[in-house]
Amino acid sequence: MNPSNNNIETQDDIGTTGHEWDGITELNYPCPRWWVWIFLGTIVWAVGYWYIYPAWPVISGDSERGGTKGVMEWTQYKQLEESQSEIFSRRAENLEKLQNTSTKDVMDMPELYEFAVVGGKSAFKENCAQCHGSGGGGAKGYPNLNDDDWLWGGSLKELSKTIKYGIRSDHKNTRNSVMPPLAAVMGKDSVTKVSRYVAGLSKGSSSTAEGAKEYKQMCSACHGVNGEGNRIFGAPKLSDGIWLYGKGDEQQIESQIKSPQHGVMPAWIDRLGEDTIKQLVVYVYSLGGGE
Ligand code: HEC
Ligand code: HEC
Repeated sequence: MNPSNNNIETQDDIGTTGHEWDGITELNYPCPRWWVWIFLGTIVWAVGYWYIYPAWPVISGDSERGGTKGVMEWTQYKQLEESQSEIFSRRAENLEKLQNTSTKDVMDMPELYEFAVVGGKSAFKENCAQCHGSGGGGAKGYPNLNDDDWLWGGSLKELSKTIKYGIRSDHKNTRNSVMPPLAAVMGKDSVTKVSRYVAGLSKGSSSTAEGAKEYKQMCSACHGVNGEGNRIFGAPKLSDGIWLYGKGDEQQIESQIKSPQHGVMPAWIDRLGEDTIKQLVVYVYSLGGGE
């Protein structure tokens, strides 16, 4: 438009829309060509979309969609089914692989290892966390499974046996041992001496300290000459400052000598089956204390 000539009456080639407000009229410029093309393009695209995808509601449409089907017959339900069946088939594949692979070999197969840890973690949450804590951290009477202090052993084989058959459980293959009540045999004095001695073990008591002789006589067969424990009996290490019961003070030790406490862990083989137990073994092993 010529800026020096603002009189629209003179711009004959454009004309006005015919609208007028107090003498002001409106030029009838056409839409820009690029805009028209995009507009037409969206119409073509929309028609194509209706043709290919489900789009319009129709009364006769089936109950799943209630509308036109589109030539591809694509639906969100189908997409969900496909991705679910892919997950299921991959899961079945991994499970089969797991069944045919020894736990030891699983450790060297990153994908299968990942699968086992994830499965084991969820089985642990469901079956074990109420006693061992959600991360296996343990509590009084329930051992911590994250550290490398093991009552019965932290190798894949030992973990598998513990989890399958339990400890002092009702399964015929259960791990079993009993700490006898020794106080009556030992007498009050000895009990006090041994308790003091054992309380000192984790603080470096010497083997000539008072109580050492009684300890050797009454306790070392199970707990080791230097308090190193014995996994055959599930007898805890007494020299490392990690305690299943209490905090290792004399009173607590004395009470264990007078009336020994014994932890019970259920057997899982009949409840969970081989596959889940394999995953649990790998998971517990992965917690950091595995041997
Ligand atoms: C009802 C409580 C309870 C539940 C549930 C339980 N445990 Fe235990 N678990 C124990 C107790 C108690 C001990 C220690 C037994 C002992 O004093 O020797 C133990 C010991 C263990 C040990 C041996 C630790 C060591 O130091 O040698 C492992 C491994 C273990 N549990 C794994 C599991 C797994 C895996 C599950 C789930 C499938 C589970 N536990 C469920 C109570 C439980
Ligand atoms: C026949 C084997 C045996 C003998 C002998 C024995 N214990 Fe034990 N002791 C055990 C077992 C098994 C446990 C673990 C109980 C459990 O896991 O619940 C244990 C647990 C303990 C605990 C608890 C440890 C902790 O981490 O809380 C103390 C303390 C202990 N014994 C001290 C002694 C002392 C002191 C003597 C000697 C006077 C002795 N024991 C003799 C088998 C024995």
